[in-house]
Amino acid sequence: MPEFVKVARTDEVAPGQAKLVEAGGKEIALFNVSGAFHAIDNNCTHVGGPLCEGELAGTEVTCPWHGATFDVTSGAVLGPPAGAPVSRYNVRIEGADVEVLVAADGRVKCLEIDVSGWPLCASAAPFLSGCVNRR
Ligand code: FES
Repeated sequence: MPEFVKVARTDEVAPGQAKLVEAGGKEIALFNVSGAFHAIDNNCTHVGGPLCEGELAGTEVTCPWHGATFDVTSGAVLGPPAGAPVSRYNVRIEGADVEVLVAADGRVKCLEIDVSGWPLCASAAPFLSGCVNRR
């Protein structure tokens, strides 16, 4: 059964800032956008730049290595040189804790997309990153 696990306290990440956290064995970049928390893979899909160290402007983060841009609310790639999105993870706030959803197998639970019930994995579908449950 999937469960949420604590990755940080809300006061550890100020608005407009990011923090590197871990859940389910993955490095995750946790962002605070005006009090709303968002979690995406930390590694840029270009050549692995640390997105937690990128500049955040609104909901857009710029990779510190070569300047690719991503939407932290969806993981979508917004600008080159990265050509694929990063995974986005479900987040909830419990009291003062920020929690990320982890699947029963211990992996982080990825975004679910409703596209008719076919499970896909990014390793087989380069246009996506991470395992995505498509409904
Ligand atoms: S590693 Fe992120 S843009 Fe190159």
